[in-house]
This record gives sequence, structure tokens and C-alpha cells, in this order.
Amino acid sequence: MAETAMKSDENSTEYQLARDSELRFEVENNEEVEVQLKDGMAEIFGTELTKNNTYKFTSGAKIAIFTWHGCTIRMTGQTEVAYVSKDTPMVTYLNSHAALEQMRQQAEREESRGPRVMIVGPTDVGKSTLCRLLLNYAVRVGRRPTFVDLDVGQGVISIPGTVGALLVERPADVEEGFSLQAPLVCHFGSTSPGANIKLYNLLVSKLAEIFNKRCKANRRAEVSGCIINTCGWVKGGGYQCITHAAQAFEADVIIVLDQERLYNELGRDIPKFVKVVLQPKSGGVVERPQAFRRHCRDEKIREYFYGFRNCFYPHSFDLKFADVELYKIGAPEVPNSCLPLGITPEDNQTKLVPMNPSKELLHHIMAISSANSEEDDIVTSTALGFIVITNVDMDKKSFTVLSPAPRPLPSRILVLSDVRFMDLK
Ligand SMILES: Nc1ncnc2c1ncn2[C@@H]1O[C@H](COP(=O)(O)OP(=O)(O)O)[C@@H](O)[C@H]1O
Ligand SMILES: [Mg+2]
Repeated sequence: MAETAMKSDENSTEYQLARDSELRFEVENNEEVEVQLKDGMAEIFGTELTKNNTYKFTSGAKIAIFTWHGCTIRMTGQTEVAYVSKDTPMVTYLNSHAALEQMRQQAEREESRGPRVMIVGPTDVGKSTLCRLLLNYAVRVGRRPTFVDLDVGQGVISIPGTVGALLVERPADVEEGFSLQAPLVCHFGSTSPGANIKLYNLLVSKLAEIFNKRCKANRRAEVSGCIINTCGWVKGGGYQCITHAAQAFEADVIIVLDQERLYNELGRDIPKFVKVVLQPKSGGVVERPQAFRRHCRDEKIREYFYGFRNCFYPHSFDLKFADVELYKIGAPEVPNSCLPLGITPEDNQTKLVPMNPSKELLHHIMAISSANSEEDDIVTSTALGFIVITNVDMDKKSFTVLSPAPRPLPSRILVLSDVRFMDLK
């Protein structure tokens, strides 16, 4: 059945979508697009649209409005592209959801735990989008799934350079995404796992451990299971990270998007009781150039401090050097011959190293550790929040920092991130 797009006036277009089709669009740079559902039912990445409500999308947004039964959409504003497609993998994804739901029902009956699902694949195949879809479908049938985000580059739970977990209690907001109240966040400090694989794997294991504990305390979360997002690095060290995460979280299902080679490798290396499935990517998923990814990372940090569409005012204040303890994780590599007997170079990667204040910290993100003292394991401690160092005054012996909350900091222990943020506001 052909879809008809009718121009209603200069700037707005009405689209009639047939069942099982989607309207895909990209918002042009520095433009804004508004959409309204005028008739029928439709959803965006698994969140149902409310009729006649206006949804706004800004610069760079890449969106698909999908309908199972047909609908009418009115769109206003400048899009880079906008077209309707009937060729989507949504039925496959819905079937995955149905299979997971059966596993949850079984877990309920047998007093066991619900499915732990990992989504893997190269960059730009729709991994994050599929996570959102499966989480939305799960909450819509009354589940409380946990979203585990292991993507340190383009993660959505916290700022770049972190891994985290979030109990999902309601569908994602169409514009803002999932409500980020009380996420569990571990500071990694770099936007690629390759910067320190040993540390990355350690944090993934730590998150899994915390998740297991939470499941013990919350039966509903245990039955609902988790959806694990991963980064697009699937070769070499990246592949090792995937298999390690599958093991740490005791994944029951691994969905491989759009890469047969990865699918075959996992089929070979992962124990047979784990179900590995290969699924197509959506033709709507758009490749994001390197510069755009960088821009997204910056925006994610900006949003952490300034809120979604600048709804918060961050605080700027001075911190005396004497009031904080600075650390970084990982000591510089030294030749094997210089190491004490029994110490391997890898041990250095997860070593906590005290730091002195210096100008080099300028613009760096610092994680505020939840550890109370150096004896606590600062390396794997969760992060209470993040600040950016916006000025270093060596004479006054103080920093100026940007913080989402007013002073005092909740802890004096700060851990350096490689990630930087220039506050150009
Ligand atoms: N069906 C679709 N139509 C249009 N855009 C889409 C569709 N699915 C995903 N996208 C967009 O494509 C981009 C890449 O998807 P994403 O899920 O982030 O990929 P990955 O996590 O694999 O890198 C995102 O901006 C997302 O909003
Ligand atoms: Mg992603």
C-alpha cells in the first residue's frame, strides 16, 4: 500500500502511514522539528505518542515514528531527510521482546531469574535504539528491567567515560529519553575501553556484582532481567570485552546486530547454553561521522551540568587544594625488569595513583568517589557525581569547578578522567 504525503502548508507536511511502516527523519543543523500524531497510534523507539501532543526534536536528531496499525503525522520544520519506509525489522524486534517476556514468565513460575540480554554489534547499527525499544516494551507490560550501559563512548546513563545501570520504571520520554533518577555509575575515565581494558573489565564485573545484589533485594527487578548495551568495538580487545561482559553478567541471550562474523565468533566462543541470535539492523539507522560523535559526547556532558535544554543552572565555586584528595587510576607503564618480583605490568593498570594539583587538570572531568577513604576501594567505587575543573590557581592553591550541585562536595576524593569539557557558555 502506498503512503501518501500531502503538503498542507508552506512549512508543515501531513503523512499518512500504512500499518507496519515508519516515518524516518533527520533534523537539519540548528533547526527544530515538531511532530504531532493526528490520528491512529504510533510510537518512537517503543514509546507511544499521545495524540495532538507536540514533540520537539532539535539539531541532529535522527528519529523513526513507527506505526503498527496506521496513523497520520503532521510534521513542521526543516528536516535534512524525511521519508516513509515499510521495510523495517520491527516485527523481528517485537518477536525478541515476546521471547524475553516468555522467559520472564517462566522465571516467575520457577522462582528463577529473568533474562539477561546483551546487544552487540559494530557502531551505528542501532544497538542503543534496540535497548531502548526492548526496555520500553518491557515496562509497558509492567516489568522493571534494568538498563546496563557499558558503552563508555556514547552511553546514555551518565557522561562519557562511565558505565552504569538504571532500573527502568517508566517508558523513555520521547524527547528526553529514560528518566535518569538514581542511576548507578562507575567512573572509567576514557571514551574507549581500549584505553585500559583491565580496568574496564574490572568495572563491568563490579557492576554485575551490584546488579546481582539488587536482584536479591528486589524480586521484580530479578524477574525482569536486564538489557545490556555495549560499544561498537567488536574486534580484538573489543571482542574480549564483549565475552568478558557476557560472562560477568551471565548473559542468557546475545543479540548480534548486523554482523555475521561477530555472530559466528560468539557462537564458537560462548557456552552453548547462551542463546546467540543474529538480527538485521534497520535501514533507518544512520551513520554518525566522528565529528558528530564528539559533538554528542560534549552535548551529553553539557546536559549533565545544564540539564536537558538548559533547564538547570550549574554551580561554580572554588575548592582549596587542601580540601580534596586527587587520584588517577593506572600508573605509567614500566619495563618488566623494573617491576618487583610477582607484579605484572597489568597490575599497574588498576593501580590508584595519588596526584598533585597542577595546571594540567584544567578542563578535566573529575569523578567524585563514593569511597570514604583510601582504604576503601576507590578504583571500583561508584561515582557520586562529576565536576569540571574550570580554573587552577597555583598561587591561591585553589581550583574553580563547575558542579551540578552547590558546595560542599559530597566527598573529598576526586578521580581524574581523560575526558575534558570546555564550558563555552
Ligand atoms: N529506524 C530508524 N530510523 C531513523 N533513525 C534511526 C532508526 N533507528 C535508529 N536511528 C538513529 O540512528 C542513530 C544510530 O543509532 P544507535 O542506536 O545509536 O546506534 P549504535 O548504538 O549501534 O551506535 C541514532 O541517532 C538513532 O536515533
Ligand atoms: Mg550506541
